Amino acid sequence: MVSKPHGGKLIKRLLSERDKKRILEEKEEYPKVRIREGLAVDLENIAHGVYSPLEGFLIEEEFQSVLNNMRLLNDLPWSVPIVLDVNKKELNFGVDDTILLFYKDMPIAEMHVDDIYKYDKKEFAQKVFKTTDLNHPGVAKLMNMGEYLIGGEIYLLNELPNPFKKYTLRPTETRSLFKERKFETIVAFQTRNVPHLGHEYLQKFALTFVDGLFINPVLGKKKKGDYKDEVILKAYETLFEHYYPKDSAVLATVRYEMRYAGPREAIHHAIMRKNFGCTHFIVGRDHAGVGNYYGPYEAQEIFKNFPDLGITPMFFKEFFYCRKCKGIVNEKICPHPLEDRKYFSGTKIRNMIVKGEVPPEYFMRKEVYEVIKSFENPFVGD
Ligand code: ADX
Repeated sequence: MVSKPHGGKLIKRLLSERDKKRILEEKEEYPKVRIREGLAVDLENIAHGVYSPLEGFLIEEEFQSVLNNMRLLNDLPWSVPIVLDVNKKELNFGVDDTILLFYKDMPIAEMHVDDIYKYDKKEFAQKVFKTTDLNHPGVAKLMNMGEYLIGGEIYLLNELPNPFKKYTLRPTETRSLFKERKFETIVAFQTRNVPHLGHEYLQKFALTFVDGLFINPVLGKKKKGDYKDEVILKAYETLFEHYYPKDSAVLATVRYEMRYAGPREAIHHAIMRKNFGCTHFIVGRDHAGVGNYYGPYEAQEIFKNFPDLGITPMFFKEFFYCRKCKGIVNEKICPHPLEDRKYFSGTKIRNMIVKGEVPPEYFMRKEVYEVIKSFENPFVGD
């Protein structure tokens, strides 16, 4: 049995072709707000039910509840505020108006404005990211946001052009796919990286206990130094071809901008995968972390507060290569001392690649390395 959507019902905020046409014909009559790509992506996720039960952006009361209690007003777990910010000068509309949201020149969504409110960015940063340090990419982005938030329900009008359409599956599609494959239990793997062997072992250890593995890389704007979307996808394509069981592993992408909010984001990631129909969710070391802002297992500990989440987390200690074990293991199963262990470090692997050195085979499959090498610049720039 695939898992029930968060809140019980899969949300769909899509319009019939007729309604869409009518709104687009009258588009000059609506107040207009331009949004950035990350918000257009959030809109897509709301509209296709990835963020069920949200039907739009949070109104103030819900926002406060998420910030302070990590729950919606109806008590459902919700840890990351999904909000739409505007500047004062963009407020050419009021509460109860219907507005159109544009990305560049494309109308993306219709929104009914239920609330317009100010918020405290420092408080937001401290509660969601556990820091107000501007070196944290999530905090830096937050500090550039407009000073007002607008809440209200949305309907999607258009989707952003999607170069990765082939791999994009919506919750309705994954749910039918899992049913077709007769999966009773499915474990989801969230990732923003090209896979090293630590990732692969994590996934395969988890798959040992369930029917299906859902690898769900997030594609979308990332921080400087992360891998570009096309590199991540190509690396997984190659890995799948050579090393993954075709009947039990599924690869599909979701557009989503990482928040790097560590523990809170781990809960959010789990909710997204519950909506895709998964019953289990992998949480390893420093999930959705960045720098040293979060403890290595803080993103696991936070799950204690959510026994009612409706998706079962699978926790793993950090994987490393042990030269005595001659394999990828973790501290639960390896008795050998530190000097025998080679830890996976994204930065170390990246530095090797930049210098033209080949990472050892116990870090990365050679096929994956070949993919990375085939790109002139595999990393996100400024
Ligand atoms: S994340 O931002 O999406 O968490 P990444 O793609 O690196 O980054 O990690 C995906 C998942 O793998 C997360 O659950 C993370 O905790 C886990 N993970 C990554 N590397 C390791 C490792 N060496 N040992 C255990 N878990 C790991």
